[in-house]
Amino acid sequence: MRIAILPDAAAIAGLAADRIEALYRRKPAFVLGLATGSTPLPLYAELVERHKAGRISFAEVSSYNLDEYVGLPRDHVEGYSNFIHRHLVDLVDFREGAAHGPDAWTGDSHAAAAAYDAAIREAGGIDLQVLGIGSDGHIGFNEPAGSLTSRTHVGVLTEQTRRDNSRFFDGDIDAVPTHCITQGLGTIMEARENLMICTGEGKAEAVRELVEGPVSQRWPATILQMHPNTVVFLDEAAASRLEMKDFYREVWEKEQLPL
Ligand code: F6R
Repeated sequence: MRIAILPDAAAIAGLAADRIEALYRRKPAFVLGLATGSTPLPLYAELVERHKAGRISFAEVSSYNLDEYVGLPRDHVEGYSNFIHRHLVDLVDFREGAAHGPDAWTGDSHAAAAAYDAAIREAGGIDLQVLGIGSDGHIGFNEPAGSLTSRTHVGVLTEQTRRDNSRFFDGDIDAVPTHCITQGLGTIMEARENLMICTGEGKAEAVRELVEGPVSQRWPATILQMHPNTVVFLDEAAASRLEMKDFYREVWEKEQLPL
């Protein structure tokens, strides 16, 4: 895992977009994994700006969302597919049908989860997966105590996650679905690159476990310690509880990241 502690969310968005732009130059038909939530929004805004400036095109790209709520109407504004369309896909030049998410409306979410996992494989796997982290250590919606090798599956959201996400539902935790379809940890571990972004004090404990804790089901994101190509972008607040911050800064400065 490579760790960069950066001044703020704007700096993180710039460096994260650099990595995606570099991937586009190497492979214009890349497969992009997309997280929802607040954290990646500055990155998506930066990608839209770079698209407008002619620096990146999504015309040959296919995307796969990490997860989707189960139980919301298909047209609900906070549905993750709608979220990704609103913040990225509809603002750039994705082809019709090239942006994918788990289908939570088939009536058989278990079968839909398996089909989604197979579709990612058939697409050749994810080249670069954007990740955020939950305050309880989840990635995707892989909550504590799940298998560290899980495939895309139907999951249950913790009360902590539903409380965190109630800000998108007028503060009403009861409006936040209890279930989801999420890429599994095993699925995420197959991405060729994982790009994790963590900002704000609320993520500091999960970040400490992610970077310095033991690999454990209690903090699912820790499985990324076993991934060969994961970069973690942190702001100062998210990094505030790390023990070895100075060392990470030194390594980052000395290492020219191959983009
Ligand atoms: C979203 C997702 C989640 C979020 C995490 C952080 O698709 O899979 O793991 O990345 O809950 O959410 P924010 O960024 O809103 O703090």
